[in-house]
Amino acid sequence: MKKLLDQITQTMEGAFERLGFDKSYARVTVSNRPDLCEFQCNGAMALAKQAKKAPIDIAEQIASALAGNELFEEVQAVKPGFLNLKLAKTYLADYLREMEKGASNKHYGCERVAKPQTIMIDYGGPNVAKPLHVGHLRSAIIGESIKRMGIFLGNTMIGDVHLGDWGLQMGLIITELRERKPDLPYFNNAFAGEYPKEAPFTIAELEEIYPTASQKSKEDENYKERAMQATYELQNGNRGYHALWQHIIKVSVTDLKKNYKRLNVSFELWKGESDAQPYIPEMVRRMKDGGYAYISEGALVVDVKEETDTKEIPPCMILKSDGASLYNTTDLATIVQRMISYNPNEIIYVVDKRQELYFTQVFRCAKKTGIVNDDTKLYFLGFGTMNGKDGKPFKTREGGVMRLETLLTGIEDKMYEKIMANQNENQTMSEEEAREIAAQIALSAVKYGDLSNQASKDYIFDVDRFTSFEGNTGPYILYTIVRIKSILNKYVQAGHSTEGLCVGEAHSDSEKALQLELAKFNGVIESAFVELAPHRVCAYIYDLANALNHFYHETKILAEPDEALQQAYIALLDLTRGVLETCIDVLGFSAPNRM
Ligand code: ARG
Repeated sequence: MKKLLDQITQTMEGAFERLGFDKSYARVTVSNRPDLCEFQCNGAMALAKQAKKAPIDIAEQIASALAGNELFEEVQAVKPGFLNLKLAKTYLADYLREMEKGASNKHYGCERVAKPQTIMIDYGGPNVAKPLHVGHLRSAIIGESIKRMGIFLGNTMIGDVHLGDWGLQMGLIITELRERKPDLPYFNNAFAGEYPKEAPFTIAELEEIYPTASQKSKEDENYKERAMQATYELQNGNRGYHALWQHIIKVSVTDLKKNYKRLNVSFELWKGESDAQPYIPEMVRRMKDGGYAYISEGALVVDVKEETDTKEIPPCMILKSDGASLYNTTDLATIVQRMISYNPNEIIYVVDKRQELYFTQVFRCAKKTGIVNDDTKLYFLGFGTMNGKDGKPFKTREGGVMRLETLLTGIEDKMYEKIMANQNENQTMSEEEAREIAAQIALSAVKYGDLSNQASKDYIFDVDRFTSFEGNTGPYILYTIVRIKSILNKYVQAGHSTEGLCVGEAHSDSEKALQLELAKFNGVIESAFVELAPHRVCAYIYDLANALNHFYHETKILAEPDEALQQAYIALLDLTRGVLETCIDVLGFSAPNRM
Protein backbone atom coordinates (compact mmCIF):
# COMPACT_ATOMS: atom_id res chain seq x y z
CA MET A 1 0.00 0.00 0.00
CA LYS A 2 1.26 3.40 -0.88
CA LYS A 3 2.34 5.35 2.18
CA LEU A 4 -0.08 8.03 3.20
CA LEU A 5 2.57 10.72 3.19
CA ASP A 6 3.70 9.70 -0.30
CA GLN A 7 0.13 9.80 -1.49
CA ILE A 8 -0.34 13.30 -0.12
CA THR A 9 2.97 14.50 -1.51
CA GLN A 10 2.07 13.11 -4.91
CA THR A 11 -1.20 15.00 -4.91
CA MET A 12 0.64 18.14 -3.86
CA GLU A 13 3.16 17.64 -6.63
CA GLY A 14 0.32 17.47 -9.13
CA ALA A 15 -0.96 20.82 -7.93
CA PHE A 16 2.48 22.40 -8.14
CA GLU A 17 2.99 21.13 -11.67
CA ARG A 18 -0.40 22.25 -12.89
CA LEU A 19 0.49 25.76 -11.81
CA GLY A 20 3.82 25.56 -13.56
CA PHE A 21 5.92 25.20 -10.40
CA ASP A 22 8.74 22.80 -9.84
CA LYS A 23 7.33 19.76 -8.08
CA SER A 24 10.44 19.23 -6.00
CA TYR A 25 9.08 21.95 -3.72
CA ALA A 26 5.93 19.98 -3.02
CA ARG A 27 7.21 17.83 -0.16
CA VAL A 28 4.67 17.28 2.58
CA THR A 29 5.54 16.45 6.17
CA VAL A 30 3.61 15.56 9.28
CA SER A 31 2.70 18.83 10.95
CA ASN A 32 4.83 20.07 13.78
CA ARG A 33 1.83 22.08 14.94
CA PRO A 34 -0.83 19.41 15.40
CA ASP A 35 -3.06 22.03 17.00
CA LEU A 36 -3.29 23.80 13.63
CA CYS A 37 -3.17 21.06 11.05
CA GLU A 38 -2.23 17.45 10.38
CA PHE A 39 0.23 17.84 7.54
CA GLN A 40 2.08 20.76 6.08
CA CYS A 41 3.96 21.82 2.99
CA ASN A 42 6.49 24.62 3.27
CA GLY A 43 7.53 24.58 -0.37
CA ALA A 44 5.97 27.91 -1.29
CA MET A 45 8.50 29.72 0.84
CA ALA A 46 11.48 28.05 -0.78
CA LEU A 47 9.97 28.55 -4.21
CA ALA A 48 9.21 32.27 -3.81
CA LYS A 49 12.58 33.56 -4.90
CA GLN A 50 12.78 31.44 -8.02
CA ALA A 51 9.17 32.14 -8.98
CA LYS A 52 9.58 35.85 -8.18
CA LYS A 53 6.35 35.87 -6.22
CA ALA A 54 5.35 36.39 -2.62
CA PRO A 55 5.23 33.05 -0.80
CA ILE A 56 1.69 33.66 0.44
CA ASP A 57 0.50 34.23 -3.14
CA ILE A 58 1.95 30.92 -4.21
CA ALA A 59 0.46 29.17 -1.20
CA GLU A 60 -2.95 30.68 -1.96
CA GLN A 61 -2.77 29.62 -5.58
CA ILE A 62 -2.03 26.07 -4.54
CA ALA A 63 -4.74 26.07 -1.93
CA SER A 64 -7.30 27.03 -4.56
CA ALA A 65 -5.94 24.45 -6.95
CA LEU A 66 -6.49 21.78 -4.32
CA ALA A 67 -9.96 22.95 -3.31
CA GLY A 68 -12.38 20.08 -3.58
CA ASN A 69 -9.64 17.43 -3.80
CA GLU A 70 -10.87 14.15 -2.31
CA LEU A 71 -7.78 13.86 -0.09
CA PHE A 72 -8.31 17.01 1.88
CA GLU A 73 -10.88 18.40 4.21
CA GLU A 74 -8.95 21.65 4.37
CA VAL A 75 -6.03 23.25 2.54
CA GLN A 76 -5.17 26.55 4.10
CA ALA A 77 -2.61 29.12 3.03
CA VAL A 78 -1.14 30.82 6.07
CA LYS A 79 1.34 33.69 6.28
CA PRO A 80 4.14 33.88 5.44
CA GLY A 81 3.53 31.00 3.03
CA PHE A 82 2.67 27.78 4.84
CA LEU A 83 0.21 25.30 3.49
CA ASN A 84 -1.71 23.71 6.34
CA LEU A 85 -3.47 20.50 5.48
CA LYS A 86 -6.21 18.43 7.04
CA LEU A 87 -7.04 15.05 5.61
CA ALA A 88 -10.58 14.25 4.50
CA LYS A 89 -12.26 11.86 6.94
CA THR A 90 -13.68 9.71 4.20
CA TYR A 91 -10.29 9.35 2.60
CA LEU A 92 -8.67 8.42 5.90
CA ALA A 93 -11.34 5.84 6.68
CA ASP A 94 -10.91 4.31 3.23
CA TYR A 95 -7.20 4.15 3.78
CA LEU A 96 -7.63 2.29 7.07
CA ARG A 97 -10.13 -0.10 5.51
CA GLU A 98 -7.47 -0.96 3.00
CA MET A 99 -5.08 -1.55 5.89
CA GLU A 100 -7.62 -3.80 7.59
CA LYS A 101 -7.43 -6.13 4.61
CA GLY A 102 -3.84 -6.80 5.62
CA ALA A 103 -4.91 -8.06 9.05
CA SER A 104 -4.90 -11.68 7.91
CA ASN A 105 -1.17 -11.70 7.15
CA LYS A 106 -0.39 -9.14 9.88
CA HIS A 107 1.15 -6.79 7.34
CA TYR A 108 -1.48 -4.07 7.51
CA GLY A 109 -0.50 -2.54 4.22
CA CYS A 110 3.23 -2.62 4.77
CA GLU A 111 4.86 -3.84 1.59
CA ARG A 112 7.76 -6.22 1.35
CA VAL A 113 10.97 -4.96 -0.21
CA ALA A 114 11.15 -5.05 -4.00
CA LYS A 115 14.47 -6.88 -4.00
CA PRO A 116 14.82 -9.21 -1.02
CA GLN A 117 18.37 -9.43 0.28
CA THR A 118 20.26 -12.11 2.10
CA ILE A 119 21.51 -10.45 5.25
CA MET A 120 23.59 -12.10 7.92
CA ILE A 121 23.44 -10.67 11.35
CA ASP A 122 26.17 -11.34 13.86
CA TYR A 123 24.74 -10.77 17.31
CA GLY A 124 24.66 -12.23 20.79
CA GLY A 125 28.39 -12.92 20.81
CA PRO A 126 28.49 -14.81 24.11
CA ASN A 127 31.66 -16.45 25.31
CA VAL A 128 31.61 -20.11 26.17
CA ALA A 129 31.95 -20.92 29.87
CA LYS A 130 31.25 -17.36 30.90
CA PRO A 131 27.75 -16.75 32.15
CA LEU A 132 25.62 -14.40 30.08
CA HIS A 133 25.73 -11.06 31.77
CA VAL A 134 24.02 -7.78 31.10
CA GLY A 135 26.80 -6.76 28.71
CA HIS A 136 25.48 -9.36 26.30
CA LEU A 137 21.92 -8.26 26.76
CA ARG A 138 21.96 -5.35 24.35
CA SER A 139 23.46 -7.28 21.47
CA ALA A 140 20.83 -10.00 21.83
CA ILE A 141 17.91 -7.61 22.16
CA ILE A 142 18.88 -5.20 19.40
CA GLY A 143 20.08 -7.89 17.02
CA GLU A 144 16.92 -9.95 17.42
CA SER A 145 14.71 -6.97 16.69
CA ILE A 146 16.67 -5.99 13.59
CA LYS A 147 16.49 -9.54 12.37
CA ARG A 148 12.73 -9.58 12.86
CA MET A 149 12.28 -6.27 11.03
CA GLY A 150 14.28 -7.62 8.11
CA ILE A 151 12.17 -10.78 7.96
CA PHE A 152 8.97 -8.77 8.21
CA LEU A 153 10.03 -6.81 5.14
CA GLY A 154 10.70 -9.98 3.19
CA ASN A 155 14.47 -10.36 3.42
CA THR A 156 16.30 -13.57 4.21
CA MET A 157 17.89 -12.91 7.57
CA ILE A 158 20.46 -15.30 8.99
CA GLY A 159 21.33 -14.71 12.62
CA ASP A 160 24.64 -16.12 13.81
CA VAL A 161 25.47 -16.16 17.51
CA HIS A 162 29.23 -16.21 16.81
CA LEU A 163 30.27 -17.96 19.99
CA GLY A 164 33.55 -17.03 21.60
CA ASP A 165 34.74 -20.62 21.80
CA TRP A 166 38.36 -20.62 20.78
CA GLY A 167 40.68 -18.32 22.67
CA LEU A 168 42.76 -18.42 25.81
CA GLN A 169 39.65 -18.88 27.94
CA MET A 170 39.54 -22.47 26.73
CA GLY A 171 43.13 -23.08 27.76
CA LEU A 172 42.41 -21.54 31.15
CA ILE A 173 39.50 -23.86 31.82
CA ILE A 174 41.45 -26.90 30.72
CA THR A 175 44.37 -25.91 32.94
CA GLU A 176 42.18 -25.43 35.97
CA LEU A 177 40.39 -28.72 35.37
CA ARG A 178 43.74 -30.44 35.16
CA GLU A 179 44.70 -28.98 38.53
CA ARG A 180 41.52 -30.22 40.12
CA LYS A 181 41.05 -33.56 38.44
CA PRO A 182 44.44 -34.67 37.12
CA ASP A 183 43.30 -38.30 36.91
CA LEU A 184 40.73 -37.71 34.19
CA PRO A 185 41.55 -39.64 31.01
CA TYR A 186 41.62 -36.37 29.01
CA PHE A 187 44.97 -35.58 30.59
CA ASN A 188 46.50 -38.97 30.02
CA ASN A 189 48.42 -38.90 26.75
CA ALA A 190 48.69 -42.68 26.75
CA PHE A 191 44.89 -43.02 26.86
CA ALA A 192 43.67 -44.37 23.52
CA GLY A 193 40.14 -45.45 24.44
CA GLU A 194 36.85 -43.69 24.09
CA TYR A 195 36.32 -40.67 26.36
CA PRO A 196 33.26 -40.55 28.62
CA LYS A 197 30.03 -39.21 27.12
CA GLU A 198 29.22 -37.24 30.25
CA ALA A 199 31.02 -33.98 30.91
CA PRO A 200 33.17 -34.08 34.05
CA PHE A 201 31.59 -30.83 35.31
CA THR A 202 28.25 -29.03 35.53
CA ILE A 203 27.45 -25.58 34.19
CA ALA A 204 27.68 -24.18 37.71
CA GLU A 205 31.18 -25.59 38.12
CA LEU A 206 32.19 -24.36 34.71
CA GLU A 207 31.08 -20.86 35.52
CA GLU A 208 33.08 -20.94 38.71
CA ILE A 209 36.15 -22.50 37.08
CA TYR A 210 36.61 -19.81 34.48
CA PRO A 211 36.86 -16.77 36.77
CA THR A 212 39.05 -18.72 39.19
CA ALA A 213 41.44 -19.69 36.41
CA SER A 214 41.41 -16.22 34.97
CA GLN A 215 42.29 -14.74 38.37
CA LYS A 216 45.06 -17.28 38.94
CA SER A 217 46.62 -16.55 35.56
CA LYS A 218 46.84 -12.90 36.47
CA GLU A 219 48.68 -13.66 39.68
CA ASP A 220 50.79 -16.59 38.59
CA GLU A 221 53.01 -16.29 35.53
CA ASN A 222 53.68 -20.01 35.43
CA TYR A 223 49.95 -20.80 35.51
CA LYS A 224 49.38 -18.42 32.65
CA GLU A 225 52.05 -20.06 30.59
CA ARG A 226 50.49 -23.45 31.16
CA ALA A 227 47.14 -22.06 30.06
CA MET A 228 48.71 -20.69 26.89
CA GLN A 229 50.37 -23.99 26.25
CA ALA A 230 47.03 -25.78 26.75
CA THR A 231 45.39 -23.38 24.31
CA TYR A 232 48.10 -24.09 21.79
CA GLU A 233 47.75 -27.84 22.22
CA LEU A 234 43.97 -27.67 21.97
CA GLN A 235 44.29 -25.78 18.71
CA ASN A 236 46.89 -28.16 17.40
CA GLY A 237 45.19 -31.46 17.80
CA ASN A 238 45.60 -32.68 21.40
CA ARG A 239 42.95 -35.38 21.41
CA GLY A 240 42.09 -35.25 25.11
CA TYR A 241 41.85 -31.49 25.17
CA HIS A 242 39.67 -31.54 22.13
CA ALA A 243 37.27 -33.97 23.79
CA LEU A 244 37.19 -31.83 26.89
CA TRP A 245 36.59 -28.73 24.81
CA GLN A 246 33.60 -30.43 23.20
CA HIS A 247 32.15 -31.05 26.65
CA ILE A 248 32.69 -27.41 27.56
CA ILE A 249 30.88 -26.25 24.42
CA LYS A 250 28.00 -28.63 24.89
CA VAL A 251 27.37 -27.79 28.53
CA SER A 252 27.73 -24.10 27.82
CA VAL A 253 25.56 -23.99 24.73
CA THR A 254 22.76 -25.88 26.47
CA ASP A 255 22.77 -23.24 29.16
CA LEU A 256 23.04 -20.35 26.69
CA LYS A 257 20.10 -21.63 24.68
CA LYS A 258 18.01 -21.75 27.82
CA ASN A 259 18.87 -18.15 28.59
CA TYR A 260 18.25 -16.89 25.07
CA LYS A 261 14.94 -18.69 25.01
CA ARG A 262 13.91 -16.81 28.08
CA LEU A 263 14.79 -13.62 26.20
CA ASN A 264 12.75 -14.75 23.19
CA VAL A 265 15.94 -14.63 21.13
CA SER A 266 16.94 -17.37 18.72
CA PHE A 267 19.68 -17.91 16.19
CA GLU A 268 19.68 -19.59 12.82
CA LEU A 269 23.33 -20.48 13.27
CA TRP A 270 25.29 -21.51 16.31
CA LYS A 271 28.67 -21.08 14.72
CA GLY A 272 31.65 -20.08 16.75
CA GLU A 273 35.13 -18.72 16.36
CA SER A 274 36.40 -22.28 16.17
CA ASP A 275 34.38 -22.96 13.01
CA ALA A 276 36.37 -20.36 11.13
CA GLN A 277 39.76 -21.91 11.92
CA PRO A 278 39.92 -24.24 8.89
CA TYR A 279 39.65 -21.20 6.62
CA ILE A 280 42.66 -19.42 8.06
CA PRO A 281 45.64 -21.05 6.25
CA GLU A 282 44.20 -20.50 2.78
CA MET A 283 43.12 -16.96 3.65
CA VAL A 284 46.59 -16.09 4.93
CA ARG A 285 48.20 -17.60 1.85
CA ARG A 286 46.04 -15.43 -0.42
CA MET A 287 46.82 -12.32 1.58
CA LYS A 288 50.51 -13.03 1.21
CA ASP A 289 50.30 -13.99 -2.46
CA GLY A 290 48.25 -10.93 -3.26
CA GLY A 291 50.96 -8.78 -1.71
CA TYR A 292 48.61 -7.41 0.93
CA ALA A 293 50.18 -8.96 4.00
CA TYR A 294 53.69 -8.26 5.16
CA ILE A 295 55.80 -8.85 8.23
CA SER A 296 56.08 -5.97 10.66
CA GLU A 297 57.96 -6.45 13.94
CA GLY A 298 57.58 -10.18 13.46
CA ALA A 299 53.80 -10.10 13.02
CA LEU A 300 51.91 -10.49 9.77
CA VAL A 301 49.87 -7.36 9.06
CA VAL A 302 47.77 -5.70 6.37
CA ASP A 303 47.73 -1.91 6.07
CA VAL A 304 44.25 -0.51 6.15
CA LYS A 305 44.76 3.22 6.49
CA GLU A 306 43.22 5.46 3.89
CA GLU A 307 44.16 8.92 2.70
CA THR A 308 40.99 10.51 3.92
CA ASP A 309 41.43 9.24 7.49
CA THR A 310 41.36 11.96 10.09
CA LYS A 311 42.59 9.67 12.84
CA GLU A 312 45.18 6.97 12.69
CA ILE A 313 43.91 3.54 11.71
CA PRO A 314 46.61 1.02 12.63
CA PRO A 315 47.34 -1.98 10.39
CA CYS A 316 45.17 -5.06 10.80
CA MET A 317 47.18 -7.80 12.49
CA ILE A 318 46.63 -11.18 10.86
CA LEU A 319 49.06 -13.44 12.73
CA LYS A 320 51.10 -12.88 15.85
CA SER A 321 54.86 -13.28 15.69
CA ASP A 322 54.53 -16.86 17.03
CA GLY A 323 52.11 -17.62 14.20
CA ALA A 324 49.10 -17.71 16.51
CA SER A 325 45.82 -16.36 15.21
CA LEU A 326 43.91 -13.50 16.82
CA TYR A 327 40.39 -12.17 17.20
CA ASN A 328 40.97 -10.37 13.86
CA THR A 329 42.08 -13.52 12.11
CA THR A 330 39.01 -15.35 13.26
CA ASP A 331 36.65 -12.56 12.25
CA LEU A 332 38.20 -12.35 8.80
CA ALA A 333 38.10 -16.11 8.33
CA THR A 334 34.48 -16.06 9.49
CA ILE A 335 33.71 -13.64 6.68
CA VAL A 336 35.41 -16.02 4.25
CA GLN A 337 33.26 -18.82 5.58
CA ARG A 338 30.07 -16.76 5.39
CA MET A 339 30.75 -15.72 1.81
CA ILE A 340 31.30 -19.35 0.80
CA SER A 341 28.27 -20.69 2.63
CA TYR A 342 25.70 -17.94 2.12
CA ASN A 343 27.10 -15.26 -0.18
CA PRO A 344 25.17 -12.56 1.69
CA ASN A 345 24.46 -9.08 0.33
CA GLU A 346 25.26 -7.69 3.72
CA ILE A 347 26.63 -8.65 7.12
CA ILE A 348 25.55 -6.59 10.11
CA TYR A 349 27.50 -6.77 13.37
CA VAL A 350 25.68 -5.82 16.54
CA VAL A 351 28.56 -5.32 18.94
CA ASP A 352 29.61 -2.96 21.73
CA LYS A 353 30.59 0.35 20.16
CA ARG A 354 33.97 0.19 21.85
CA GLN A 355 34.89 -2.33 19.16
CA GLU A 356 34.29 0.16 16.36
CA LEU A 357 37.93 0.79 15.43
CA TYR A 358 38.56 -2.93 15.44
CA PHE A 359 35.72 -3.54 13.00
CA THR A 360 36.86 -0.67 10.80
CA GLN A 361 40.17 -2.51 10.45
CA VAL A 362 38.52 -5.87 9.81
CA PHE A 363 36.08 -4.49 7.21
CA ARG A 364 38.76 -2.57 5.35
CA CYS A 365 41.01 -5.58 5.35
CA ALA A 366 38.21 -7.81 4.04
CA LYS A 367 37.46 -5.37 1.20
CA LYS A 368 41.07 -4.72 0.34
CA THR A 369 42.09 -8.36 0.23
CA GLY A 370 39.03 -9.37 -1.77
CA ILE A 371 37.39 -11.52 0.90
CA VAL A 372 34.19 -9.67 0.06
CA ASN A 373 33.11 -8.08 -3.20
CA ASP A 374 32.77 -4.35 -3.47
CA ASP A 375 29.01 -4.65 -3.33
CA THR A 376 28.89 -6.73 -0.16
CA LYS A 377 28.02 -4.41 2.66
CA LEU A 378 29.70 -4.82 6.01
CA TYR A 379 27.99 -2.79 8.65
CA PHE A 380 28.92 -2.16 12.25
CA LEU A 381 26.01 -1.37 14.50
CA GLY A 382 27.75 -0.35 17.70
CA PHE A 383 25.70 -0.02 20.86
CA GLY A 384 26.39 1.97 23.99
CA THR A 385 26.76 0.81 27.56
CA MET A 386 23.92 -0.10 29.84
CA ASN A 387 24.57 1.88 32.99
CA GLY A 388 23.14 1.76 36.49
CA LYS A 389 21.45 4.71 38.14
CA ASP A 390 24.87 5.94 39.26
CA GLY A 391 25.83 6.38 35.60
CA LYS A 392 28.41 3.59 35.81
CA PRO A 393 28.17 0.22 34.03
CA PHE A 394 25.36 -1.83 35.51
CA LYS A 395 26.53 -3.99 38.43
CA THR A 396 25.08 -6.07 41.24
CA ARG A 397 24.55 -4.45 44.60
CA GLU A 398 27.86 -5.94 45.68
CA GLY A 399 29.57 -4.39 42.68
CA GLY A 400 30.02 -7.65 40.75
CA VAL A 401 28.98 -8.44 37.21
CA MET A 402 25.21 -8.91 37.08
CA ARG A 403 24.15 -12.20 35.57
CA LEU A 404 21.37 -12.01 33.08
CA GLU A 405 19.36 -14.65 34.91
CA THR A 406 19.56 -12.72 38.16
CA LEU A 407 18.47 -9.54 36.46
CA LEU A 408 15.49 -11.15 34.76
CA THR A 409 14.38 -13.05 37.84
CA GLY A 410 14.48 -9.87 39.90
CA ILE A 411 12.27 -8.04 37.44
CA GLU A 412 9.90 -10.96 37.07
CA ASP A 413 9.43 -11.07 40.84
CA LYS A 414 8.66 -7.40 40.87
CA MET A 415 6.07 -7.78 38.13
CA TYR A 416 4.55 -10.77 39.90
CA GLU A 417 4.01 -8.67 43.01
CA LYS A 418 2.38 -5.93 40.98
CA ILE A 419 0.04 -8.39 39.30
CA MET A 420 -0.93 -9.94 42.60
CA ALA A 421 -1.56 -6.51 44.10
CA ASN A 422 -3.97 -5.83 41.22
CA GLN A 423 -6.11 -8.88 41.97
CA ASN A 424 -9.67 -8.24 43.05
CA GLU A 425 -13.01 -10.00 42.91
CA ASN A 426 -13.17 -9.39 39.13
CA GLN A 427 -9.77 -10.80 38.47
CA THR A 428 -8.27 -13.80 40.11
CA MET A 429 -5.29 -15.58 38.69
CA SER A 430 -3.61 -18.80 39.56
CA GLU A 431 -0.04 -18.49 40.71
CA GLU A 432 1.06 -20.23 37.53
CA GLU A 433 -0.74 -17.81 35.24
CA ALA A 434 0.49 -14.83 37.22
CA ARG A 435 4.07 -16.09 36.97
CA GLU A 436 3.75 -16.57 33.24
CA ILE A 437 2.30 -13.11 32.72
CA ALA A 438 4.93 -11.61 35.03
CA ALA A 439 7.64 -13.07 32.80
CA GLN A 440 5.95 -11.64 29.73
CA ILE A 441 5.68 -8.16 31.20
CA ALA A 442 9.22 -8.31 32.59
CA LEU A 443 10.54 -9.06 29.13
CA SER A 444 8.66 -6.11 27.69
CA ALA A 445 10.15 -3.90 30.41
CA VAL A 446 13.71 -4.98 29.70
CA LYS A 447 13.46 -5.02 25.92
CA TYR A 448 11.48 -1.83 25.49
CA GLY A 449 13.68 -0.09 28.06
CA ASP A 450 16.65 -0.95 25.90
CA LEU A 451 15.18 -0.60 22.40
CA SER A 452 13.49 2.73 23.01
CA ASN A 453 16.93 4.33 23.22
CA GLN A 454 19.00 5.01 20.17
CA ALA A 455 21.30 1.98 20.06
CA SER A 456 24.57 3.90 19.90
CA LYS A 457 23.84 5.82 23.09
CA ASP A 458 24.58 4.71 26.63
CA TYR A 459 21.45 4.46 28.72
CA ILE A 460 20.49 4.09 32.32
CA PHE A 461 18.85 0.83 33.23
CA ASP A 462 16.28 2.10 35.67
CA VAL A 463 14.26 -0.85 36.93
CA ASP A 464 11.64 1.30 38.63
CA ARG A 465 11.00 3.34 35.54
CA PHE A 466 11.12 0.42 33.09
CA THR A 467 8.62 -1.65 35.08
CA SER A 468 6.11 1.16 35.52
CA PHE A 469 2.71 0.74 33.86
CA GLU A 470 2.74 4.44 33.04
CA GLY A 471 4.97 6.49 30.79
CA ASN A 472 7.14 5.43 27.88
CA THR A 473 7.60 1.79 28.95
CA GLY A 474 7.02 -1.73 27.71
CA PRO A 475 4.45 -2.50 30.41
CA TYR A 476 2.48 0.61 29.37
CA ILE A 477 2.32 -0.68 25.79
CA LEU A 478 1.20 -4.10 27.02
CA TYR A 479 -1.31 -2.48 29.33
CA THR A 480 -2.79 -0.64 26.35
CA ILE A 481 -3.06 -3.84 24.34
CA VAL A 482 -4.65 -5.65 27.26
CA ARG A 483 -7.13 -2.79 27.66
CA ILE A 484 -8.18 -3.23 24.03
CA LYS A 485 -8.40 -6.98 24.35
CA SER A 486 -10.58 -6.63 27.39
CA ILE A 487 -13.02 -4.32 25.56
CA LEU A 488 -13.14 -6.63 22.57
CA ASN A 489 -13.78 -9.52 24.93
CA LYS A 490 -16.66 -7.78 26.63
CA TYR A 491 -18.10 -6.90 23.24
CA VAL A 492 -18.00 -10.54 22.20
CA GLN A 493 -19.40 -11.68 25.54
CA ALA A 494 -22.35 -9.37 24.97
CA GLY A 495 -23.20 -11.55 22.00
CA HIS A 496 -21.56 -9.61 19.17
CA SER A 497 -18.89 -10.63 16.72
CA THR A 498 -15.79 -8.68 15.76
CA GLU A 499 -15.56 -10.39 12.38
CA GLY A 500 -15.93 -8.33 9.24
CA LEU A 501 -16.31 -4.95 10.96
CA CYS A 502 -14.86 -1.88 9.24
CA VAL A 503 -13.39 1.35 10.48
CA GLY A 504 -15.66 4.32 9.84
CA GLU A 505 -15.28 8.04 9.35
CA ALA A 506 -13.92 9.72 12.46
CA HIS A 507 -16.51 11.34 14.71
CA SER A 508 -14.19 13.19 17.01
CA ASP A 509 -10.74 14.71 17.10
CA SER A 510 -9.43 11.92 19.27
CA GLU A 511 -10.78 9.29 16.90
CA LYS A 512 -9.22 11.03 13.93
CA ALA A 513 -5.92 11.42 15.73
CA LEU A 514 -5.89 7.68 16.40
CA GLN A 515 -6.71 6.95 12.78
CA LEU A 516 -3.92 9.20 11.59
CA GLU A 517 -1.44 7.39 13.83
CA LEU A 518 -2.56 4.04 12.46
CA ALA A 519 -2.19 5.27 8.90
CA LYS A 520 1.50 5.90 9.51
CA PHE A 521 2.22 2.26 10.24
CA ASN A 522 3.34 1.10 6.81
CA GLY A 523 6.23 3.53 6.74
CA VAL A 524 7.46 2.83 10.25
CA ILE A 525 9.11 -0.57 10.05
CA GLU A 526 10.54 0.22 6.66
CA SER A 527 12.35 3.34 7.82
CA ALA A 528 13.34 1.71 11.12
CA PHE A 529 14.98 -1.08 9.17
CA VAL A 530 16.73 1.20 6.70
CA GLU A 531 18.20 3.09 9.64
CA LEU A 532 18.64 -0.07 11.74
CA ALA A 533 16.79 1.81 14.43
CA PRO A 534 14.31 -0.18 16.52
CA HIS A 535 13.81 2.93 18.65
CA ARG A 536 11.70 4.32 15.81
CA VAL A 537 9.25 1.46 16.22
CA CYS A 538 9.15 2.15 19.98
CA ALA A 539 8.49 5.84 19.43
CA TYR A 540 5.69 4.95 17.04
CA ILE A 541 3.91 2.52 19.33
CA TYR A 542 4.19 4.94 22.21
CA ASP A 543 2.41 7.60 20.13
CA LEU A 544 -0.10 5.05 18.96
CA ALA A 545 -0.79 3.80 22.50
CA ASN A 546 -1.23 7.39 23.68
CA ALA A 547 -3.65 8.11 20.84
CA LEU A 548 -5.60 4.98 21.70
CA ASN A 549 -5.83 5.82 25.39
CA HIS A 550 -6.88 9.35 24.63
CA PHE A 551 -9.63 8.08 22.35
CA TYR A 552 -10.68 5.56 24.98
CA HIS A 553 -11.01 8.21 27.67
CA GLU A 554 -13.06 10.49 25.43
CA THR A 555 -15.37 7.90 23.97
CA LYS A 556 -18.15 5.64 25.22
CA ILE A 557 -17.48 2.44 23.39
CA LEU A 558 -19.33 -0.43 25.03
CA ALA A 559 -22.12 1.94 26.05
CA GLU A 560 -22.52 3.46 22.58
CA PRO A 561 -26.20 3.07 21.59
CA ASP A 562 -25.68 3.57 17.84
CA GLU A 563 -24.83 0.09 16.68
CA ALA A 564 -23.08 1.07 13.44
CA LEU A 565 -20.95 3.59 15.25
CA GLN A 566 -20.07 1.07 17.91
CA GLN A 567 -19.04 -1.42 15.25
CA ALA A 568 -16.73 1.13 13.67
CA TYR A 569 -15.18 1.81 17.08
CA ILE A 570 -14.64 -1.87 17.68
CA ALA A 571 -13.01 -2.23 14.26
CA LEU A 572 -10.74 0.68 15.04
CA LEU A 573 -9.73 -0.86 18.37
CA ASP A 574 -9.07 -4.19 16.74
CA LEU A 575 -6.91 -2.59 14.07
CA THR A 576 -4.96 -0.73 16.75
CA ARG A 577 -4.46 -3.95 18.66
CA GLY A 578 -3.24 -5.69 15.52
CA VAL A 579 -0.77 -2.98 14.64
CA LEU A 580 0.54 -2.76 18.22
CA GLU A 581 0.96 -6.52 18.44
CA THR A 582 2.72 -6.66 15.10
CA CYS A 583 5.11 -3.97 16.25
CA ILE A 584 5.95 -5.60 19.57
CA ASP A 585 6.46 -8.89 17.79
CA VAL A 586 9.04 -7.18 15.62
CA LEU A 587 10.62 -5.81 18.78
CA GLY A 588 10.74 -9.33 20.20
CA PHE A 589 8.10 -9.49 22.92
CA SER A 590 4.40 -10.20 23.22
CA ALA A 591 1.32 -9.20 25.19
CA PRO A 592 -0.79 -11.31 27.55
CA ASN A 593 -4.59 -11.39 27.43
CA ARG A 594 -4.87 -9.82 30.84
CA MET A 595 -2.55 -8.44 33.47
N1 ARG B 1 32.52 -12.56 21.97
C1 ARG B 1 32.78 -11.19 21.73
C2 ARG B 1 32.80 -10.41 23.04
O1 ARG B 1 32.25 -10.82 24.02
C3 ARG B 1 31.77 -10.53 20.83
C4 ARG B 1 31.73 -11.08 19.44
C5 ARG B 1 31.24 -10.06 18.46
N2 ARG B 1 31.21 -10.58 17.11
C6 ARG B 1 32.28 -10.70 16.32
N3 ARG B 1 32.13 -11.18 15.11
N4 ARG B 1 33.47 -10.35 16.70
O2 ARG B 1 33.39 -9.35 23.08
